[in-house]
Amino acid sequence: MKKVLVINGPNLNMLGKRPKEHYGSLTLDEINQAILKENKDYFSIEFFQSNCEGEIITKLQEAMEYAGILINPASYTHTSIGIRDALEMCTGIKLEIHLSKVDEREDFRKVNLVRDVCNKTYSGKQVESYLEALRYLKKIL
Ligand code: DQA
Repeated sequence: MKKVLVINGPNLNMLGKRPKEHYGSLTLDEINQAILKENKDYFSIEFFQSNCEGEIITKLQEAMEYAGILINPASYTHTSIGIRDALEMCTGIKLEIHLSKVDEREDFRKVNLVRDVCNKTYSGKQVESYLEALRYLKKIL
């Protein structure tokens, strides 16, 4: 089975407690279960969440050859050249994920350092952002 890594950045371990109008009411564990339910027969899926930029960079370096990477860099979307540079080296399909409509929120969220090193973006659909991204991966891999 092809390997897929799902990475979630800072504060996404707190889903369920974050503003529901942007992020929905599911916990990260519930999102991961929904992902597995639909995809466990197609991909070997690894989940990784960290609040630390360096840990996310190290994980990306370890997954450089994976067939696919879904990444919700959370606040690092807007600030991290390091995550962007690590993603650039990954050879698989890279999909940028956001739960909220990140492009329609505050101006500081319009700065996006990862988008142009990803193949596609899925945002604004809460858990469905992840599920739609995986449906796309299934189609092309
Ligand atoms: C987010 C959007 C980011 O701006 C924010 O910092 C997050 C989550 C999203 O999933 O909508 O923590 O990436």
